[in-house]
Amino acid sequence: MPPRGGPFVPALPPRVAGTAAYRWLAAGLRGAILEGRLAPGARLPSTRLLADHFELSRGTVVSAFEELVAEGYLEGESGSGTFVNRVLPDDFFAAPRPPAKATPAPARKGAGQLTRYARQVEHLETSEPTPPHAFRANEPALDLFPAKLWAQIAGRVLRRGSTIRVAECDPRGVLPLRQAIAEYLGASRGVRCTTDQIAIVSGIQDALDLTTRLLVEPGDIVCTEEPGYVGADRVFTAAGATIRAIPVDEHGMIVPSARMGGARLAYVTPAHQFPTGVLMSLPRRLALLDWAQRNGAWIFEDDYDSEFRYSGRPIPALQGLDRSGSVLFAGSFSKVLFPSLRMGYLVVPEALVDRFAAARSVRNRHSPLLEQEMLAEFIAAGHFGRHLRRMREIYAERSATLVAEATAHWAGRLDVSPIEAGLQTAAWLTGGQAASAVAQRAALRGLEATPLSNYQRSKPTREGLHLGFAAIPPSEIRRGVRELARVLDEGAHG
Ligand SMILES: Cc1ncc(COP(=O)(O)O)c(C=O)c1O
Repeated sequence: MPPRGGPFVPALPPRVAGTAAYRWLAAGLRGAILEGRLAPGARLPSTRLLADHFELSRGTVVSAFEELVAEGYLEGESGSGTFVNRVLPDDFFAAPRPPAKATPAPARKGAGQLTRYARQVEHLETSEPTPPHAFRANEPALDLFPAKLWAQIAGRVLRRGSTIRVAECDPRGVLPLRQAIAEYLGASRGVRCTTDQIAIVSGIQDALDLTTRLLVEPGDIVCTEEPGYVGADRVFTAAGATIRAIPVDEHGMIVPSARMGGARLAYVTPAHQFPTGVLMSLPRRLALLDWAQRNGAWIFEDDYDSEFRYSGRPIPALQGLDRSGSVLFAGSFSKVLFPSLRMGYLVVPEALVDRFAAARSVRNRHSPLLEQEMLAEFIAAGHFGRHLRRMREIYAERSATLVAEATAHWAGRLDVSPIEAGLQTAAWLTGGQAASAVAQRAALRGLEATPLSNYQRSKPTREGLHLGFAAIPPSEIRRGVRELARVLDEGAHG
């Protein structure tokens, strides 16, 4: 087995005047071994390096090493260095060692020592990285991402060395990437903004977190969609906001609504409502903007997968219709490229640009430069546009396969309406079966189907499932549809 750990110089306690140098060094190294800072098998720095570092003679270091070898703490192999002994002297067993596996910390008295945020924040679900099968939602076709091209760009950017030589960048991100995003959003989403208003963030989740820190006080009312995106709810709840869930119908969030009275912020997914997939109508958009303007409230527009529109005319972003600077528009590369990139953007109203930049700088300075430069090059060289067009075609074919197969095999039981956009769709149970029971039986057959009620706070008025298609090859969609038809048969006869 190769020796563990690099030859780092351990930190030693200060030397007390009058102590022989070799004794002080031996005691310091012994302490580092007993505390586990120098692990069994770790290589020690050379005597020359230690002598230089601590300003001692080499003979002094050799004497300290000899003492520790004699005690069994160190072992030396001539020519290959000095190591912490793997077979430990008796004393060692009495010393506390770091546990091999993290054990839960014992409960401390007074959970009140945690902040309100710490007490309320909850994990977002993560899924095991398994090959996609029917009907995984919320995931793009990761196997079709041009990974080789991405690696070539990484190589080019790294060879340029600029991401290493530049100490830091604007907290909002590097200029070429922000310019490219401003241009893209203006042309394809009808967003009206200057490059100054664009901030690169670690995905929409980060944009939500940053926005909430700056605009929502504990106790403030935040309106969310019902059903809606749990990830947004978690951010607002952790911040101590009171959530008012506003129902969604086939035109989007039902606004205006008396339930929105006194709210400070409304969170919406107008381009492709999560999870129902409906497009917010123009009258509703105008009503929401009017509500925000009259009440001095903010709107957070989550544009998470709007790049994928297969039919119907895209309605420009709410942000583009806003004349009062009330809308914060957030988009993500998680669905267009890949989610582990953790890269997205927030278009900040002009009046807030400075506050957002300051908050980002204090929190974690800025997003990593390497990925920002890679992405800027990916967009500038036209790869982004090409990838988008290619994936749009593939997803359109997959969505059409799902609709055609569903019509043939689920008719009268599970209704999938024509899919206009996105990576997934809502399917409505029409035969009286409960979505949770169907989802459970589907899981036994290796299918992923999430009840829409999982995204809902109140009792749903309709039973439905959330079904993904984008990540799934057509043959697997066909298999999944037939399997789910059997699940529906079982439910109808059982
Ligand atoms: C509706 C919605 N908004 C935002 C996000 C988070 O996106 P990001 O990965 O950019 O944080 C997701 C992720 O699935 C989502 O479904």
